[in-house]
Amino acid sequence: MHQASKIFLIGFMGSGKSTAGRKLASQLNWSFIDLDEKIEKMEGMRIPDIFSIKGEPYFRKIETKALREMKSETNTVISTGGGTPCFGDNMDFMLSSGLTIYLKMTPACLKRRLTKLSEGRPLLKDIDRKDLLGYITSKLEEREKWYLMAKIVVDGFNTDLSDLLSLIKKQIRQ
Ligand code: S3P
Repeated sequence: MHQASKIFLIGFMGSGKSTAGRKLASQLNWSFIDLDEKIEKMEGMRIPDIFSIKGEPYFRKIETKALREMKSETNTVISTGGGTPCFGDNMDFMLSSGLTIYLKMTPACLKRRLTKLSEGRPLLKDIDRKDLLGYITSKLEEREKWYLMAKIVVDGFNTDLSDLLSLIKKQIRQ
């Protein structure tokens, strides 16, 4: 069995990775790192500004760099950005250095959540409300091949944290 001392939470924007990550970390008595927050600190800039001033390819380069810096972390839960697993060899890196968990949610559920949470998400800023469900559906279809490589796939909407914790505890070193 792969004995992980890091957990990577992956999934679409708005699937609750940061909230679930904070809760898991506190239950495990581990540290918590939000990869987007780390990128903002590294760059001294908010994510939407990195996208608009430096462009998405630059953001993806920094995202990969920030992810690689997680290598030395132990006993840490890391919530990633929605695009993190889908660029370069980021997913291979996460699979080989920790326990990967995909918080899976339906497009309809993501749409309900993202209608309230689109602010600060550069990929959604030019999407009209009426096109949001279509955008999410096709983007998720494009990205899910990476998300589904995760070792554990959970229902992000009805996640039972205690069930998830017992599943995790079988696969980590504490
Ligand atoms: C992105 C998701 C965002 C953030 C950036 C790009 C994406 O993170 O990394 O805006 O490509 O899906 P969240 O998943 O936390 O919104």
